[in-house]
Amino acid sequence: MSKLNREQTITYDKKYNQHPWLKGNTEPIPIEKAEGIFFYDFNGKKYYDMSSQLSCVNIGYGNEDVIQAVNDQVKTLPYIAPAYASAPRSELAKMLVELAPDNIAKVFFTCGGSDANEAAINMARTYTGRSKIFSRYRSYHGSTLGSGNLSGDPRRFALEHPAATGFVKFQDPYVYRSDIPFKNDHEASAYYINKIKEQIAYEGAENIAAIFVESITGANGVIIPPDGYLQGIRKICDENGILMICDEVMAGFGRTGKMFAFEHWNVKPDIITFAKGVTSGYVQLGGIMISKEIAKFYEDKVFQYGLTYSGHSLACAAGVACVNYYKKAGLLENTQKVGKVLGELLEEIKQKHKCVGDVRYIGLFAAVEFVKDKETKEPLVPYADQSGTMGKIIGLLKERGFATFGRENNINIAPPLIITEEQLREAMKIFDEVLDIVDETYL
Ligand SMILES: Cc1ncc(COP(=O)(O)O)c(C=O)c1O
Repeated sequence: MSKLNREQTITYDKKYNQHPWLKGNTEPIPIEKAEGIFFYDFNGKKYYDMSSQLSCVNIGYGNEDVIQAVNDQVKTLPYIAPAYASAPRSELAKMLVELAPDNIAKVFFTCGGSDANEAAINMARTYTGRSKIFSRYRSYHGSTLGSGNLSGDPRRFALEHPAATGFVKFQDPYVYRSDIPFKNDHEASAYYINKIKEQIAYEGAENIAAIFVESITGANGVIIPPDGYLQGIRKICDENGILMICDEVMAGFGRTGKMFAFEHWNVKPDIITFAKGVTSGYVQLGGIMISKEIAKFYEDKVFQYGLTYSGHSLACAAGVACVNYYKKAGLLENTQKVGKVLGELLEEIKQKHKCVGDVRYIGLFAAVEFVKDKETKEPLVPYADQSGTMGKIIGLLKERGFATFGRENNINIAPPLIITEEQLREAMKIFDEVLDIVDETYL
């Protein structure tokens, strides 16, 4: 364990660390430790972790089962190359296949979500012999070359000089911001599905390897698809020999009250990509789960992809303990129960505050969308706004001990799934108070 004190941590960080997505001169808050749903700075200030960091610390901090499993594993076999069989890798793969829908046969492990999506792109193209990959605006799938070009949010621009070829974007079912006053989910789904069909016709179905979707768009505002939408994509894929790939990196592992978010709509993807919640961030791990057909295809073919740390022993040991813990602690049930309270509180917040246009929530996965005007839905800040208004609101929350992140006009709320109703109410009181300030200051 590092013994640096607060001052050394700050000084060395400033001098030697380049942080992702931040300017080099940014000064991050130095954090010393964490326990349960809280983390603490070096002065003992407590933060409610209301985003589970990057929506990954699903089981909270200080989980003894995972700590023990990693400790035991590091003594026995800390690392073994991916070509060997190892107990933690075998055990976790078996557990994941058993958790997944019955069409899923095998798992390929990566180190996180970006490389999981790279692996899925690679497999989809090889398996189908087609090159085009469909994905949606507002999605985030990672920041490596392929996964970054797959992503639909503006973070991909840096990877488009020049862009990787073969990536086609379509609109997401962002019903709140649609110009069309859909009467119900059925109408909305039919509209968006027809738009995809039209785009497929003009790209040539025979050229399309896969349609990637975040089952629920996460980082860009928890956009929950209308009922019938994912089923519609499944049907398009079936009719055209296209693979349906669900990115469950953020929405998976209990976040929505089900193990995988697509289960809310009873679809079976051909490939599921995952990371984050599989180990709750204790050790980095990601991967893809593949269908029986794809696994069969690769029986006598080499999968041309690999990572030194694919299926790392410590990560897989953490994964086994973590996945067991979801069940042992009844985390899906807690997510449904406390998530219901979160939904009620968010509806109250929407009623009360002028600055709130929409609230979207499912389980413990939520976003609050800010507007200048509730009636016209004019966004609080224009798209790609650099004024830092949303950053300031997130800063106000952090000052009061409510830590989370947001993008564009949305602030995400996704606490660890172990949160109690009482803790949630305490944290949401802070949120409510900050929104009073937003109503007063920014409107
Ligand atoms: C839906 C989704 N896919 C992929 C990724 C990329 O995962 P990683 O940062 O582990 O590479 C993320 C990260 O936030 C994500 O939210």
